[in-house]
Amino acid sequence: IGPRRTAIVGGIYTVIQTKARLTCEEWGENYFLVGPYMESSVRTQVELIEPCNAALRRTIDKMNSSGCKVYFGRWLIEGSPYVILLDVGFTAWSLDRWKSELWENCSIGVPWFDREANDAILFGFLTAWLLGEYAAQCDEPPHIVAHFHEWLAGLGLVLCRQRQLPVATIFTTHATLLGRYLCAGNVDFYNNLAEFNVDKEAGDRQIYHRYCLERAAVRCTHVFTTVSQITAIEAEHLLKRKPDIVTPNGLNVKKFSAMHEFQNLHAQSKARIQEFVRGHFYGHLDFNLDKTVFLFIAGRYEFSNKGADIFLEALARLNYLLRVNHSDVTIIAFFIMPARTNNFNVETLKGQAVRKQLWDTAQTVKEHFGKKLYESLLVGQLPDVSKMLDKEDFTMMKRAIFATQRQCLPPVCSHNMLEDSSDPILNCIRRIGLFNTAQDRVKVIFHPEFLSSTSPLLPMDYEEFVRGCHLGVFPSYYEPWGYTPGKTTHTMYMCFHCVMYIFLNSSFSGIYILDRRYCGVDESCNQLTSFLFQFCQQSRRQRIIQRNRTERLSDLLDWRYLGRYYVSARHMALAKAFPDTFIYEPQEPTSATGFRYPRPASVPPSPAHSLHSSPHHSEAEDEEEPYDEDLEAEKDRVNIRQPFNMPNRNKNQTVSLPEKN
Ligand code: UDP
Ligand code: G6P
Ligand code: GLC
Repeated sequence: IGPRRTAIVGGIYTVIQTKARLTCEEWGENYFLVGPYMESSVRTQVELIEPCNAALRRTIDKMNSSGCKVYFGRWLIEGSPYVILLDVGFTAWSLDRWKSELWENCSIGVPWFDREANDAILFGFLTAWLLGEYAAQCDEPPHIVAHFHEWLAGLGLVLCRQRQLPVATIFTTHATLLGRYLCAGNVDFYNNLAEFNVDKEAGDRQIYHRYCLERAAVRCTHVFTTVSQITAIEAEHLLKRKPDIVTPNGLNVKKFSAMHEFQNLHAQSKARIQEFVRGHFYGHLDFNLDKTVFLFIAGRYEFSNKGADIFLEALARLNYLLRVNHSDVTIIAFFIMPARTNNFNVETLKGQAVRKQLWDTAQTVKEHFGKKLYESLLVGQLPDVSKMLDKEDFTMMKRAIFATQRQCLPPVCSHNMLEDSSDPILNCIRRIGLFNTAQDRVKVIFHPEFLSSTSPLLPMDYEEFVRGCHLGVFPSYYEPWGYTPGKTTHTMYMCFHCVMYIFLNSSFSGIYILDRRYCGVDESCNQLTSFLFQFCQQSRRQRIIQRNRTERLSDLLDWRYLGRYYVSARHMALAKAFPDTFIYEPQEPTSATGFRYPRPASVPPSPAHSLHSSPHHSEAEDEEEPYDEDLEAEKDRVNIRQPFNMPNRNKNQTVSLPEKN
């Protein structure tokens, strides 16, 4: 695990955390995670214990008596893996010496002001020290496999090789440094992959030293892996080594025993989002919440890499389309992307307070009403409805209604932004004019903080929120894997990511693919607008059917299937590092190991059956589609490699990457 300073945990953290259970099952007591010590996280997530074996105890004691602080414990997550935590700050006194060593041995110079790179050096030297010391403390020569993730952790690997430690090394890059930077700078990235002068590009962006650390790890490792095919091609061009194997990311998928379980969860979570919306739009609730569709985009705040730019532009076009078509559907689009703020803004908090007050007023009046009704029934009389509420009740209700008057429009942002005037989402909203006016069919809420069930504003955790929404929109330009879209398979989502190409064959799955490699921004926006417009026109029944189908696809992302690529990578590394002891036999997945791609039980023989063809459609039809056991039994077997081999989109267009125009 590389050092992480920020509080915002991204996908790499999810990889390590979710994979732990499976790796623990395989390696048991021999599996250790190594990471930086951070007091606040340790206090809440780690149980510190004595080292679990004698060699490790000796290793840790030796390091601690030589000026380090090394901790040992169990990480309190699924699988409870052992963790060895290295206090990077405590050894900061070694930084200059280690930097000189790095320069002398590898000719990589790191500037003093790059704190993250400095931490990476400390962490790298400490990791190599730990592994070397452990190998020395073992009674018999050990066979260690060490898996390093990202450039931040890569130096430990380089040093293991340079010191010729008995360690089989694997390096996984979850993105390339240069790729992320180039894409954020509006470059036509995928059509120019082979053309970049990588050294110059890295130098121009002042990340040359980081990029050198990344390339050194790639170059030195026994086995190099990336998380997806698209990143493998990128790595081949930008890091100059073709990955030995793609190790896709998985999730620990929770299975539901019945369809209605997650449909009910959707309804419950949606009701909570609706409550929030009632407060947020107080005084402007002139739209029908039952005909309101909730969209969202979420993730680390990389405005264009994550596709917030395209989403906003498409929303503006959708707003126009819905208005000219006199649609009665309202769209509320949430942007959940953490930015620097100083708390919620007053108007947003006030909205929830006003809603609460209205609710309390309604409850009080209801009680008065109920009491009078009861008394009247007790004396055998039907109540005189005109006398059920007295003057005081009316005064209270009028006061509550007056409180719903507001001078301003419902805010587009829930927080006070520190960089309000230069914030890219806010500036884009200003430019396209989506200000939540009564005429807008598309309303926008920017929540610049990850969601939490303890929030006083929208007390829901991210997973609940995703369930309650109707559609996640992830038109990322740069997304090596994309956990955020992946996790959203429980509802419905769209993204352009290559793993999702498998779903192109399954147009009923509730996933729309936007291929941004061959289109300009304008064309992509139009395509997205048209998907969104189609989606808005769907009936409730169609949405329910899509939710059922998408839910079944979640198996595809389960570590139970995807973990095998990590197993292969480890075998490969052991065979390369210890050829006398280990042999690697590549195993083609057979039908027994292949992934079972569940064919949606509800796929009708023709798409027409999925549409509302009957003018007599009634609300009674808005039921969940039946679960068809026979069809389920006909599940197609699809080789697990398929998602990463990107099938053809259509007869004329191959989707192999990359191609120069
Ligand atoms: N995430 C979250 N709250 C949010 C949005 C995202 O906790 O509101 C998590 C998400 O579940 C995922 C991670 O943040 O685990 C983002 O990972 P992803 O692979 O999508 O992108 P990365 O940040 O690594 O580029
Ligand atoms: C779930 C519930 C239904 C509800 C529906 C709303 O399927 O089981 O009772 O009607 O969600 O779906 P919608 O897409 O309109 O939020
Ligand atoms: C990176 C990528 C993301 C991926 C994650 C885990 O942060 O940006 O797409 O899901 O790593 O591999």
